Amino acid sequence: MSVESKVRAVTTLRLKEMKDRGEKISMLTSYDYSMAKIVDGAGVDVILVGDSAANVMAGWETTLPITLDQMIYHAASVVRAVQRALVVCDMPFGTYQGDSQAALDSAIRIMKETGADAVKMEGGEEILDSIKRILTAGIPVMGHLGLTPQSIHKFGTYSVRAKEEAEAEKLVRDAKLLQEAGCFAIVLEKIPAALAERVSKELSIPTIGIGAGGACDGQVLVVHDMLGINKGFSPRFLRRYADLYTVMSEAISHYVEDVKSCDFPNEKEQY
Ligand code: KIV
Repeated sequence: MSVESKVRAVTTLRLKEMKDRGEKISMLTSYDYSMAKIVDGAGVDVILVGDSAANVMAGWETTLPITLDQMIYHAASVVRAVQRALVVCDMPFGTYQGDSQAALDSAIRIMKETGADAVKMEGGEEILDSIKRILTAGIPVMGHLGLTPQSIHKFGTYSVRAKEEAEAEKLVRDAKLLQEAGCFAIVLEKIPAALAERVSKELSIPTIGIGAGGACDGQVLVVHDMLGINKGFSPRFLRRYADLYTVMSEAISHYVEDVKSCDFPNEKEQY
C-alpha cells in the first residue's frame, strides 16, 4: 500500500469519540521504523515523532537544534512502519514561530514528504496565526501547552509550569483559543494535576498529559524513557516499564565475550 493511499485506523475523529465515551488515549514517541513497528503493533493509539529526537536520537541538550529535514527523515521512517496508530510529527523550533506562510510551507513539507497524519506545535496565542493558517490548509494540528521545551531558554528550567495563578489562567485561555481555532487535541506537559483536570473538563477536545496527572484524556511518554533505554532521566512522572538498558548491555557484553572466545560463530552459524 502506498503512503498516499494508507488510511490508518485511528483518526482525529476517533480520538474525540474516545474522549466522549471516557476511553483513555495512549500515545508514545517513535523516531524510527523498527521501534514504530513495535509501538504500533502493541496497540498504541497515537505515535508522536517528537522533536525529543534531538535529545534521544542525536544527543543534543535541548530540542532546538533538530531541523525540518531531520524531522522529515524520522517521520517518514515511522510512517512506513505504522498500520493503525495516528502519526503526529512535531514541527521543529524555528519553523512556525515567525511568519505564518513559512509555517504553512513547513507543515506542507511534513505532510507531503512523510505521510504523517498531523503536526504538533508548542505555544498558545503567540503562534495562533500560524496554527490557523495550517488548519485552513486542511492539516490537523495538535497543540502543546505548559512546559514547552522549545522555549527552554525563556523558562531557564524544566520544572513544573503554571503553578502561579496568572500563568495558569493564561494556559486555560490558550487552551480555549487552540480549541476554537480547530486543534484536534492538546498536549499538557508538566503542569499541576488540578489545572490539567480543569482544562480537560472545560475542553471538548482531548488533552494528552505528560507529568500532568491522571485526569487528562490520554497520556504520552518518550518511549526510550519508559522502556528504560535512557537511564539518565528520572522525573517523578516517569514510570519505567522495562530495564532495556541492562538487557541490551548484557546481551552486547555476551556477544563481545563470544567473539573474543571464538564461541561465535559456531559450525551451525556458518556456510
Ligand atoms: O518531543 C516530544 O517527545 C514531546 C512529548 C514529550 C510530548 O513533545
